[in-house]
Amino acid sequence: MDSHTKPKVLISRQEIVATTIRLAAEISKDYRDKQPILIGILKGSFIFLADLVRRLDFPLEVEFVTLSSYGKGKESSGRVKVIQGLSSKIKDRHLLVVEDIVDTGLTTDFLLNYLCKKKPASIRVCAFTSKPSRRQFPVNIDYLGFTVPDKFLVGYGLDCDERFRNLPDICFIKEEE
Ligand code: IMP
Ligand code: MG
Repeated sequence: MDSHTKPKVLISRQEIVATTIRLAAEISKDYRDKQPILIGILKGSFIFLADLVRRLDFPLEVEFVTLSSYGKGKESSGRVKVIQGLSSKIKDRHLLVVEDIVDTGLTTDFLLNYLCKKKPASIRVCAFTSKPSRRQFPVNIDYLGFTVPDKFLVGYGLDCDERFRNLPDICFIKEEE
């Protein structure tokens, strides 16, 4: 990506706020008495997870795992690597995996298998965005923000080569004519 590309807004910051409120209400209904562990997948989910937990007013814990399926740029390498795993025990706990985007499904599918082996009480998935047209690994998303088209998105935590995570809206990159 070079200086001839300009991000265009796909999901505005106002829509983002409304959607985090909706998702927090759905999650609160199901988890209020379960002291769940929310597991954010780094790096992309850090902003969404931070917004979400501040709207959940019941006991919960937060964990992060760093996974990487992307090499540089827009193409997945097709393999997932655990860069940093969990720091607390998850056996018999209720887990909610928090994702920025489910694209091919490879990362989420990999993480769910990894977590399942540690025998949690339950696992569900909350994804802020999903690109179903790109799915190769079926993933059940229990709490979904937006279904998005097959465009490469940046902002609200999503990057392209580590850039643009700080954009307050979710944008796509439009090549200039
Ligand atoms: P998946 O394994 O193909 O589902 O991809 C999951 C990861 O790829 C996400 O957690 C993102 O970090 C990254 N990713 C997928 N699509 C996009 C995109 O449109 N923009 C930025 N990152 C993306
Ligand atoms: Mg990324």
